[in-house]
Amino acid sequence: MTKIEQQRLQNSLLDWYACHGRTLPWRVRNGLGDPYRVWLSEVMLQQTTVSTVQPYFNEFIRRWPSFEALARAELDDVLHAWQGLGYYSRARNLHKCARIVLAKYKGILPDDERELLRLPGIGPYTAAAIVAIAFGYPSAPVDGNVVRVISRLMNVQTPLPALQHEILSLFAPIVPKGSPGDFVQAIMDLGATICMPRKLKCNQCPLIHFCEAQKCGVAENLPVRAPKKKKPTRRGVIFWTENTSGKILLRRRPEKGLLGGMMAFPSTDWREEIWDVDEAIKSAPFNLKWQPLSGTIRHNFTHFHLELTVLSGHAFSKQEGLDVWIRPENFTDYALPTLMKKIAKHVVSLSLETAD
Ligand code: ADE
Repeated sequence: MTKIEQQRLQNSLLDWYACHGRTLPWRVRNGLGDPYRVWLSEVMLQQTTVSTVQPYFNEFIRRWPSFEALARAELDDVLHAWQGLGYYSRARNLHKCARIVLAKYKGILPDDERELLRLPGIGPYTAAAIVAIAFGYPSAPVDGNVVRVISRLMNVQTPLPALQHEILSLFAPIVPKGSPGDFVQAIMDLGATICMPRKLKCNQCPLIHFCEAQKCGVAENLPVRAPKKKKPTRRGVIFWTENTSGKILLRRRPEKGLLGGMMAFPSTDWREEIWDVDEAIKSAPFNLKWQPLSGTIRHNFTHFHLELTVLSGHAFSKQEGLDVWIRPENFTDYALPTLMKKIAKHVVSLSLETAD
């Protein structure tokens, strides 16, 4: 593409963005975004849609309007407010990052992409988005939307995931020095509203005359995906432990790993092999009489399907230490992961059935 063509493309997209770009609570037109709001929105938008994020963003800004306010918040309050956005490790990193920004940078987010990359929860996409939108540097954030738009615009047939790297080298040169923040957000909006995975709206696209895939009639087939690997199924057994006051045992999971640091019902490991009861109870929290409950709880994680069964037991003494005992009606006071809520719902509905 010649320099003149690049400029025409940039102008077409920026004109379109001025009229049709989405109005979003963290967005500033024709200027730089506030670094705190940009950082918060970009972290929330990792793996979550714009419509889901908006009410969470507004609530976080209301409660914690600055790095300093968020850094001084209790982690459990932040996790609780994050409920429903998924991947709690992102909320933990968000909080950790705010604390580092306050302690190391006096509450002011650095404007250097490499420095940002050293902060928890900020990967290459987020660092590039922040410096473009909040600091006005021509960086190239590449996410799924950008991969789709650029692979079509330039008719790139390389299959994912290798395509991702190629897109970076094709996208970076077309981000304008003058208004990089508007340009990258315009590409994001184009990917979300016009250049969608299916049902593309090419007749409304400001870049139709630049689009190589459209010229060849292959836009809908791009990006090319390598065949999907089948997700494995892992199995586990949950220990639903009730004490004499009707409280249920919860324990905090280890910091590292899936649902890191979250409150959870004790469980065996999650593995592909099916558990039999005798083997499962070797991982039980106490030596009790364990009764299998009926039904299976299914949950999908990014990399595997999970199937859980439940063993129920009655403990006669309240143990102290790292254990927490909570009445089922008070579970909502704790930042329980969706999976744990699903388990609780399953067991409570079984006990209601037997009470009928
Ligand atoms: N997705 C990720 N970041 C975004 C942004 N700043 N605007 C719209 N969609 C996005």
